[in-house]
Amino acid sequence: MKKLVVLTGAGMSAESGISTFRDAGGLWEKHKIDDVATPGGWQRNPVLVLDFYNERRKQLLESKPNGGHFALAELEKDFEVQIITQNVDNLHEQAGSTNVLHLHGELMKVRSTSPSEDVFELTPSNYETHMGDLCPKGYQLRPHIVWFGEAVPEIINAEYLTEQADILVVIGTSLQVYPAAGLIHNAKPGIPIYLIDPNEMGHLPAYITVIRKGASEGMKELNQILKSR
Ligand code: OAD
Repeated sequence: MKKLVVLTGAGMSAESGISTFRDAGGLWEKHKIDDVATPGGWQRNPVLVLDFYNERRKQLLESKPNGGHFALAELEKDFEVQIITQNVDNLHEQAGSTNVLHLHGELMKVRSTSPSEDVFELTPSNYETHMGDLCPKGYQLRPHIVWFGEAVPEIINAEYLTEQADILVVIGTSLQVYPAAGLIHNAKPGIPIYLIDPNEMGHLPAYITVIRKGASEGMKELNQILKSR
């Protein structure tokens, strides 16, 4: 089976009702990155940071995968599919995708601020984290999210997986945040690359086939293209 690697961003989950970051009305218009998504913000006001991610989890728990997520899971019948997502939601997994690498962490996990950074799963009935919530070693728990200014430990795996791709698909990312945005350059030269996004993206290399549609409709069109190949 051919290896199909899919890089997804916030637009993948937009039709599920989860806000993107940089579109009009997006999360970074309502919240300052520096306050809620940096180590400095955590140091200055951890309560604000914990509240922000508690709210994100509440929104996730009210959301369901959309047609785009389900279409990607379906592709596993015909391809070896590897999803590399910048999203911290678990909608790919909920839709049935089995190989999902989370580059920027996961909302439904928290980790210890101890040096060993132990990770713990949250549950839908107990999804909030507050100051004073400690790991068994006695350290405060923090969101299991890669903040701006922090290392992206999974990027090495993501680069390796992208190099193996026979087909690369990019869905719903503004390609503004590195190192994730640079992954398209790890693809082998000459492989087909498809990009699904309803909005104008500015300059893109000519070898990328753009499908200017939302995730669900875009995935239908991609399916047609893949079948006709
Ligand atoms: P952005 O908000 O930067 O980009 C979202 C993209 O989705 C844009 O290109 C939109 O045009 C597109 N889009 C909107 N609606 C869509 C739809 N229905 N179907 C498909 N695409 C749609 O989000 P990301 O590129 O994911 O990191 O942002 C990257 C990272 O920046 C995030 O992982 C997050 C953020 O700060 C952290 O929080 C660490």
